[in-house]
Amino acid sequence: MAATRRLSHSVAVITINHPPVNALSHSLRRSIAKEFGDASKDSSIEAIVLCGANGNFCAGADIKEFGSSTLDSVSLNNINDTIERCKKPVVAAIEGVALGGGLELALSCHYRVANVQARVGLPEVLIGILPAAGGTQRLPRLIGIPAALDMIVRGRHVPATEALQLGVVDEVVKANTVDAAIQLARKVLGQSLETRRLSTSPVQSIPNMDNFLNTAMTKAKRQFRGAQAPLACIEAVKASIVLPFQKGLEKERELFTSLWSTGQPQAQQYAFFSEREVGKWTTPSGGRWDKVAPKAIRTAAVIGLGTMGRGIVTSLSKANIPVIALEQDTKQLDIGRQAVNALLDREVLKLKQQGKASSPGDGLGSVTFTLDFGDLHNVDLIIEAVYENLQLKKEIFHKLSAIAKPDAFLCTNTSGLNIDEIASVTNRPEQVIGTHFFSPANIMRLLEVVRGHHTSLTTIATAMNLGKSLGKVAVLVGNCPLFVGNRMLGPYLEQAGYLLEEGCYPEEVDQALEEFGFAMGPFRMMDLAGLDVGWRSRTEQGLTGPNAPPGFSARQRNGKRYSPLADMLCELGRFGQKSGKGWYQYEKAGGRNAKPDPWVRDFLEKYRRTHQTEQHPANPQEIQDRCLYALINEGFRILEDGIASGPEDIDVIYNNGYGFPKHRGGIMYYAATVGLTKVFNTLDKYSKANADVPSMKPTFLLKKLAAVGGPPIKEWRTQIGNSNSRL
Ligand code: CAA
Ligand code: NAI
Repeated sequence: MAATRRLSHSVAVITINHPPVNALSHSLRRSIAKEFGDASKDSSIEAIVLCGANGNFCAGADIKEFGSSTLDSVSLNNINDTIERCKKPVVAAIEGVALGGGLELALSCHYRVANVQARVGLPEVLIGILPAAGGTQRLPRLIGIPAALDMIVRGRHVPATEALQLGVVDEVVKANTVDAAIQLARKVLGQSLETRRLSTSPVQSIPNMDNFLNTAMTKAKRQFRGAQAPLACIEAVKASIVLPFQKGLEKERELFTSLWSTGQPQAQQYAFFSEREVGKWTTPSGGRWDKVAPKAIRTAAVIGLGTMGRGIVTSLSKANIPVIALEQDTKQLDIGRQAVNALLDREVLKLKQQGKASSPGDGLGSVTFTLDFGDLHNVDLIIEAVYENLQLKKEIFHKLSAIAKPDAFLCTNTSGLNIDEIASVTNRPEQVIGTHFFSPANIMRLLEVVRGHHTSLTTIATAMNLGKSLGKVAVLVGNCPLFVGNRMLGPYLEQAGYLLEEGCYPEEVDQALEEFGFAMGPFRMMDLAGLDVGWRSRTEQGLTGPNAPPGFSARQRNGKRYSPLADMLCELGRFGQKSGKGWYQYEKAGGRNAKPDPWVRDFLEKYRRTHQTEQHPANPQEIQDRCLYALINEGFRILEDGIASGPEDIDVIYNNGYGFPKHRGGIMYYAATVGLTKVFNTLDKYSKANADVPSMKPTFLLKKLAAVGGPPIKEWRTQIGNSNSRL
């Protein structure tokens, strides 16, 4: 890990090298400072180019070093200051990424040349902090307040061509970035660098600046629901306008320090590293991600072009994988084709804006449409996304056994059916795996990869690798009804239903959980997903509807408490957004604006009177505790069952698939923050008073961890018993 220096036509080229992404660790900063100091003093050197090894300029500060107490005289701020003051022209040659401290380093250079494939950004907000090496002070001076605020508050990775338009970089080249930077450095020799030093540049004012910033603050408070970093970013950018540069830097540092004390950066950085950790799966039998080579997926097919299939096709095409899309009849095929083409048109537009496509199809895998299963005979991988019906899926997998080439992988997008049963009808159960995408599949980052009993390591490696190629975060989970994410929803929604029976209204429950930070409360979520989905499944299980045994009382099933409220809404045709009515009312069928519905209030009040339910309207804290502890307890049960291999896996699933607020780290991380003893005691008390709600009975693992004082989350794995495996 070092910066090295070579000479080219009297230009010193300093290369930052700390694989894989040149994160600015303590010793790397020291090394950069030394090489830069030597180069600036060397009279034979006329200019300096700063570039990165490993195909990247620099991904910023080394996040692993955050919180460590290394006293460091070589701060990035000092380096940036030295670079900016240098009397020789300094040019950054940006390849790969220049993110966070990496972009801040580049902003202190006098010029920036970027490769067309490069991305720049200040994504600190995504790990709970703000740019703290002058980014919030230099970027507004370079590109103006609105554009800088947008980049900093959203933490966007900006493609090179857009960066050029915004003025973040001076030149974009298709190849030989370092050579182009050397040329530029030589070209500007002798020119004044005064206007190129951002710390001395003025910030461009805009009309109604105060108004603009106040609006941004109000919007951020609403949008980021309790996350502090976006608000601190706005404060820091504001400082760039009202304070001189040095004072602005002090404000930036002060905001950084106060953010650190909220605990949110630690939570978000845990979430960041958990996302990387889950990709390193291992299995109880000793299979490891780095020991098994995935097979290349050059072609794929998707069966069923409904809500999920069309998104999956788009996702594959975006990853430049040619796809064959299959439907059951001409009508469905036409509908599917139109939907896929509309999604792909949007992708083409985006690629064009990024300068990555000049004609339709550039950068995208081709999509062909068919009704003929025979056309799938030569593809490497097939993803089935037909209705959630075990019999239908088995028929399709049986057919695929005969048609697909012997080494083709067969994947199912089921949301919770038994993978082993589906695999059992094939001639290759070891090549069958669950690939559970989330809706909309072309956008949502989560992919649950579900391993069946016979699934081979190569199949797992291939599915996990495919997830990465699609830009998803893939989490390997075991096979059980509903897998991890949807299984945890059960007890959570159960509590939400009981809260209504006891006197709350949907909007109160939603509000409490949205204030906690969820993107959506449970009732708005059910309305969005469609209440009929769960209803159909409960009807199939005989919990409600014509197959339910006549002996069932309204509020009990096999001795367990049961809330029939959702079933009753469905019986009245209230399926949620799609029917214009559900837990809320909407402006029309398919409408999105949820409004509290007086009808639902009357309905609930009548229900409570009819069943004489015990009335105990919960306050927001109690609503949060009951719903969140239900999730946590099921999370522990999943760990006990070996369905997820660690709390990180559950957290990545909830953060990326269920709108859990990342600034709280994850649902299991939240449990650790609250304290496992408190979680255990609360669940224990509830469950003793409600023996007919077994899902709230504290799990053995929770009890065990609480008994030893609730160790830090990193230590849970050793207590789980499968400490050597990720599954
Ligand atoms: N510090 C430490 N490690 C980092 C890192 C960083 N800034 N960025 C990435 N890594 C590590 C990852 O943990 C991973 O390590 P393992 O292989 O051991 O798991 C490895 O680098 C590769 O990362 P990815 O798997 O994420 O690779 P990718 O190619 O998919 O993505 C990336 C690369 C776009 C750089 C992505 O890793 C990323 O977004 N990194 C974070 C960038 C960031 O937030 N920078 C700001 C840092 S804070 C800062 O700079 C503060 C300041 O103002 C001074
Ligand atoms: P959908 O009802 O929107 O689409 C299913 C499609 O499959 C229809 O277009 C239908 O014509 C087609 N189809 C049915 N039988 C077929 C056959 N024999 N051959 C070819 N095509 C056939 O269903 P959706 O929502 O897309 O769900 C598909 C799968 O994805 C299900 O297993 C579901 O549980 C799962 N899933 C659904 C999610 C959602 O939010 N909708 C989320 C995650 C998984």
